[in-house]
Amino acid sequence: MRRASSSKDPDAAPTPPSGGHGATAPPETLAWVGDGDGYVDLLDQTRLPLEEVRLEIREVPEMVRAIQRLCVRGAPAIGIAGAYGVVLGCRDADRSDRDDVLARASEAAALLSRARPTAVNLVWACERAIARARREHASGASGDALVAALLEEARSIHAEDAAQCRRMGELGAELLRGGETILTHCNAGALATGGIGTALAPIYVAAEQGKEIRVFADETRPLLQGARITAWELARAGIDVTVIVDGAMAGTISRGAVDAIFVGSDRIARNGDVCNKVGTLGVAVLAERYGVPFYVVAPLSTFDPATETGAGIPIEERDPSEVRAYRGVVSAAPDAAVCNPAFDVTPAELVTAIITEVGRIEHPDRASVEAALASGGRLG
Ligand code: MRU
Repeated sequence: MRRASSSKDPDAAPTPPSGGHGATAPPETLAWVGDGDGYVDLLDQTRLPLEEVRLEIREVPEMVRAIQRLCVRGAPAIGIAGAYGVVLGCRDADRSDRDDVLARASEAAALLSRARPTAVNLVWACERAIARARREHASGASGDALVAALLEEARSIHAEDAAQCRRMGELGAELLRGGETILTHCNAGALATGGIGTALAPIYVAAEQGKEIRVFADETRPLLQGARITAWELARAGIDVTVIVDGAMAGTISRGAVDAIFVGSDRIARNGDVCNKVGTLGVAVLAERYGVPFYVVAPLSTFDPATETGAGIPIEERDPSEVRAYRGVVSAAPDAAVCNPAFDVTPAELVTAIITEVGRIEHPDRASVEAALASGGRLG
């Protein structure tokens, strides 16, 4: 895994978010560089906000590791990474043997889709890539044509995600008049997607429309995606952002300082239960207690029609070392046991609306989720 200093893909750059005067767009989350023999260039998000280091990923195990270490993270972004990773899986295939190309791609998809268990976008994107490869193979495509099709599919997933982020941003910005203070949890911004983000997209679009928006970013223990990544990307975009520790959330909401909450999601069950970064459930309970609207912003690729309720969503349990220390500084008694779930599930009844690229699902339940999935072609 080589390190580089800057991104350079001319083909897949989505429209960057922009906020106030002097705003700087975030660096591109990830990009494919070159043709079918190319590589993935991605921002190592573990180094933010101290350093902007880019990684050149050329092998499937490197991509699996980059996803597991959260170098690339956020549900839509790891889906895109998975799809590009399937193309990397063909690097060592014998291109004159189209069966070998399909077999290597399938093996890569199986490995990549298991890299992290919760975000369904990863499985969805890998399955979509392999479905395309199987169709091409069945119609007699050569090994080279299979690789070209896989790259085209991955680029489509990336470009569609960028377009969906913008659409969700437009729909979410309709809820904002200007002057609001929004609270968000974790990072569901540009750096979690191939576009302008999910939860942060309405904020970027509202800012483009000249609306003044303030943001509270929960720090999001233990890996600080809110304090390190959300605050960094919003500040660069010229958006007024204030970091609060997770423990300050309740007091901040209770004193009426928050007008609305916008969060992303890693997987939404068929009944509308929403899985997102651990701590989101607490925000949702507070939102209901204090009468603050709680919006989830997520593309249809984050919905899992095969999972009936939130109880069926696998919750990633991460290494206790993430809680015991942060960047080498001890933060828990060494002899204490540690439990480190990375996500939690918010019941649908606590969600004011889910904003998708096909519209807003108000007070989501099984019927309204199924209607949205059907309108987006995600139900058979
Ligand atoms: O562990 P992470 O950083 O990948 O968790 C990310 C989140 O929980 C995001 O809120 C979610 O993926 C939505 S991203 C648009």
